[in-house]
Amino acid sequence: MAPETYPWQDATLDPDTRARLVVAEMTEDEKFSWLSGPMAIPLGDTPKPDGALGSAAFYPGIDRLGIPAMQQADASLGISNLGNVRPGDNATALPASLLLGASFDIDMARQTGEMVGREARAKGFNVQLAGGANLVREPRGGRNFEYVSEDALLTGQIAGHSVAGVQSQGIVSTMKHFVLNAQETGRVMVSSDLSEPAMRESDLLAFQIGIEIGQPGAIMPGYNLVNGDYASENTFTLKTVLKGDWGYPGWVMADWGATHSTEAMRAGLDVQSGANLDPEPFFAAPLREAVADGRIPQARIDEAVARQLRSLFAVGAIDHPPAPGGSIDHSAHRLLAQRAAEGGITLLKNDGLLPLSKGAASRVLVVGHHADKGVLSGGGSSNVNPIGSFSTQGTDIMGMQVQRIFHPSVPVAAVRAESGAAKVVFEDGRDLQAACKAAREADLVLVFAEEWRSEGLDQSGLSLPEEQDALIAALAEANPETVVILETGGPVLMPWLAKVRAVLAAFYPGQGGAEAIAGILWGRVCPSGRLPVTFPASEAQLPHPAQRDPETTTSNPGMERIGEIFHVDYDVEGADTGYRWFAREGHAPLFPFGFGLSYTSFEYSALRVERRGRALEAQVAVTNTGKVAGAEVTQVYVSGQGLNRRLAGFAKTRLDPGETRVVVIPLEPRLFARWQDGWQIAAGPYTVCIGSDATAMRLCTEVPLPNQAFRP
Ligand code: BGC
Repeated sequence: MAPETYPWQDATLDPDTRARLVVAEMTEDEKFSWLSGPMAIPLGDTPKPDGALGSAAFYPGIDRLGIPAMQQADASLGISNLGNVRPGDNATALPASLLLGASFDIDMARQTGEMVGREARAKGFNVQLAGGANLVREPRGGRNFEYVSEDALLTGQIAGHSVAGVQSQGIVSTMKHFVLNAQETGRVMVSSDLSEPAMRESDLLAFQIGIEIGQPGAIMPGYNLVNGDYASENTFTLKTVLKGDWGYPGWVMADWGATHSTEAMRAGLDVQSGANLDPEPFFAAPLREAVADGRIPQARIDEAVARQLRSLFAVGAIDHPPAPGGSIDHSAHRLLAQRAAEGGITLLKNDGLLPLSKGAASRVLVVGHHADKGVLSGGGSSNVNPIGSFSTQGTDIMGMQVQRIFHPSVPVAAVRAESGAAKVVFEDGRDLQAACKAAREADLVLVFAEEWRSEGLDQSGLSLPEEQDALIAALAEANPETVVILETGGPVLMPWLAKVRAVLAAFYPGQGGAEAIAGILWGRVCPSGRLPVTFPASEAQLPHPAQRDPETTTSNPGMERIGEIFHVDYDVEGADTGYRWFAREGHAPLFPFGFGLSYTSFEYSALRVERRGRALEAQVAVTNTGKVAGAEVTQVYVSGQGLNRRLAGFAKTRLDPGETRVVVIPLEPRLFARWQDGWQIAAGPYTVCIGSDATAMRLCTEVPLPNQAFRP
């Protein structure tokens, strides 16, 4: 058959039909070549597979059927180049997903997703292992920077729009790590235990919303177990919920080295990824035997392959295959990374010092371990390493060195460019005396504090590492005109808070991060980030204050197992993650979820909630009552009928001084409901409020709702 006559080339057919037509022509060998594959970089005895570009995974093309190879790369923050497997190939590094969460900006999520998709396409990748959508349940979690927030709605919306952006470029995106992948310590040994109703209302809801919006072509379960079964062979999460209740049509790919059996296929796993990290080739010869002796039906094999093909067809990855060597507008992408950072960096304290006026401080001291080199990024498979990055020793993950990378956006240079100061001096802060002397001689002290987090490694405690708390306290003592900029992968304690004049949470701000920070300090940008996670006042406030010693367990696949499977009981907080736990327990956090200051002020009036069937919509007028243009994050919270206050909708609106706009915000009905074998909304009045954060309500109204039951 000549290629142009393949029936599946008819783009008017739906993707499932096209996929089935291809599968009907495939040989068993061809099918099995898409059911398991190694990590596609040279690793130990395994060379890079022929035809692989060099990335997380490669599945060979089927030339005779006109089906391209699958080239899969990490991840949400840009295109990774693990171990420099593609020598010299670099990409744009976006801010951490947590910072995207702080922007509360679905348009920015889409635009940055599109950027990832464009770069993936230009490099020849057709599957992007993006879409981090785990809820932040453990504030010290090593991968929180790859996730969006502690809130199901914010996480689902941002992750969903980000995935939609990637896929709009004809590239499949995953959503991961499904589900309850909350900590890195013992990530291959830990069972996240949570009862079904709570799971449906929290972690599953984040994915459900994200999947509805983004329609990711693939889902990646995590390394962890869920209620005692590995996430990669969890019949409840994969078969009952994902493929059953939600009717998910895409494929489920294991995390690398996270497949534990051939029977996983029965539970809903479609592909064994990173198979060379697993103890057995479960989805190769053993799976063929299982099919031969009838333990796994042939139809299940066909389905697993068809799911992959339909997702590739659905985004256009087969009709318009990407090829390496495409051009990338690096400067436009760098600017987008900067804009994303500008929209998410969160002003936590400002006693009137900010915004600084140009030239007002003639001698500015910049302090920070690497503030003369770049801004910090998080470590692990998601890491992006643009040209000009600076690295120091990181950690070992799965036998690979993962460096600590500082993106090429240099605080000292950005401060020089933005401040108009006659002199900008730098101290790395390792010599406390020298730093304090320089602080006394300066008009303004900017401290860039760092907290490195990485895949495979949780943060121990919530304090800034490496004596930085003492450094900040001493600098503030030496010069009260001190501002702290936090480059962290999550919340940290701030024992020096009362002594400093301003604090910015910059998370990991990416390749335009320093310019974004300087832009906010000197008022070129009006800050509009809001915290996507609660900043606790102490570890004692957390649902799980104690942490397991990482030495007593195994955190990476392919490594010898230490100790037994252990359980974390997430029913302690249940569905009440983050701010909902703090409210329930009456804990006052250091800074609440949703909190962030601006250089202007906003007023609200005329709040109304309209109901059309099950759909609910809030309308409210927002006015910029200050003197500068700025963006406001309107947060709509719901409570009542026994519900703890929950974010049910949000929007970000840019307003000129004096401008008023009526903002229309759809409210998520599932956030008015409890899960009792389906969503149940209890009849009665609900209180709907505009909050400046999760703890401070500014304007409320009541909406009566009838009893309602619905699925999924
Ligand atoms: C990570 C995944 C990643 C994969 C491939 C694993 O270590 O958990 O998120 O996509 O590696 O690099």
